[in-house]
Amino acid sequence: MNERVLVTGAGGFIGHHLVTYLKNRGYWVRGVDLKHPEYEPTAADEFDILDLRRWDACLESLRPAPDGRKIDHVYALAADMGGMGFISANHSLILHNNVLINTHTIEAARKAGVERYFYTSSACVYPEHLQTEANVTPLRESDAYPAAPQDAYGWEKLFTELLCHYYAGDYGMETRTVRFHNVYGELGTWEGGREKAPAAMMRKVAYAKLLGGKEGAPGGPPTVEIWGDGEQTRSFMHVDDCCEGVYRLMMSDYREPLNLGRDRMVTINELCDIAAEAAGVDVVHEHIDGPQGVRGRNSDNTQLREILGWEPGIPLEEGVARTYEWIEGQLRAKLEAVGKLPSGDGALVDILPA
Ligand code: NAD
Ligand code: GDD
Repeated sequence: MNERVLVTGAGGFIGHHLVTYLKNRGYWVRGVDLKHPEYEPTAADEFDILDLRRWDACLESLRPAPDGRKIDHVYALAADMGGMGFISANHSLILHNNVLINTHTIEAARKAGVERYFYTSSACVYPEHLQTEANVTPLRESDAYPAAPQDAYGWEKLFTELLCHYYAGDYGMETRTVRFHNVYGELGTWEGGREKAPAAMMRKVAYAKLLGGKEGAPGGPPTVEIWGDGEQTRSFMHVDDCCEGVYRLMMSDYREPLNLGRDRMVTINELCDIAAEAAGVDVVHEHIDGPQGVRGRNSDNTQLREILGWEPGIPLEEGVARTYEWIEGQLRAKLEAVGKLPSGDGALVDILPA
């Protein structure tokens, strides 16, 4: 296997895992991002810090490999993105940045003679009016039109899906488009405002377990703050399943957008309890105001099974247990660094500043 591959967004959560996955399969890989991966070094053969909103940076990212051979495959994951806290509050930034990144990256790929181009779209493309109930009908690929996504983030994803569709038709580029449903796992953003519900629940559970009380207010019964009534629903896919699905789709001959997610729907209250179970602690739910996005969302995997003969299979409890262990480790390291962990007898030796 000696194809040359470019992964954009390789300093981010899924991109970093995908680089490791492709290296394990024997590819030569160049990673590009605004930043290096935060939690461990990249496995890429080359890693460039580039701002892909810029046309010159996109051309640079698609220069030939050191052996003079062109880049064969591109996995385009770079995006300004995050969970509901971020995407509901940054519409202009997201639309501006992601349109620039995606229009420039695909055109630079075309000029460089790239054969296969993989675009990472989102379940956020689906119309808001199909997601108003917690007990939602799972979303089929054809539900995306007539289009009515909730946020600018989803509109940009639809726009770039179409860009891929037209590049395939006009230039014969082999494009692949996936619609991810909420992806979680180890080495993912777990604090800072861009984290999604799984990492947020696990971090809040870990605070409650290690310090008692709730994040920012230690002491007392372990408590987790949940945005809304917690009865909103989602399905969650572990990042290992995600990488496997991405690769299978890239190697298929299917050019249309395809869901990639699990089809087991849970409420956010249930997600919180699964995280608490992994932590071995009972927590109280405290429901507070916060951005909620759609009321319910689930993936219809009929097409996925048909096209790939496969679907994600890592059970939520297993994926959360693995991810929780990593997040608790991150939090422990952070608290130990500032001397804020409980003493041996369980008493608090200090109070974490809010
Ligand atoms: P992430 O934020 O961890 O990774 C995206 C990376 O893109 C980041 O490292 C960021 O620095 C980089 N980036 C942003 N602007 C850039 C620029 N101008 N130039 C170069 N790099 C830039 O997100 P992720 O969860 O790994 O998501 C990867 C892709 O999958 C994104 O396109 C995202 O929209 C899509 N997606 C993810 C999910 C999910 O649940 N994680 C769901 C749907 C779609
Ligand atoms: N992030 C977060 N943090 N969400 C919380 C929290 C919290 O502390 N408490 C409750 N929630 C609820 C949100 O209100 C929302 O209803 C639900 O958990 C899921 O939130 P997110 O995981 O942040 O986002 P999402 O599922 O609505 O959308 C995500 O997945 C899409 C793909 O399915 C985002 O990451 C999108 O960018 C992505 O495209």
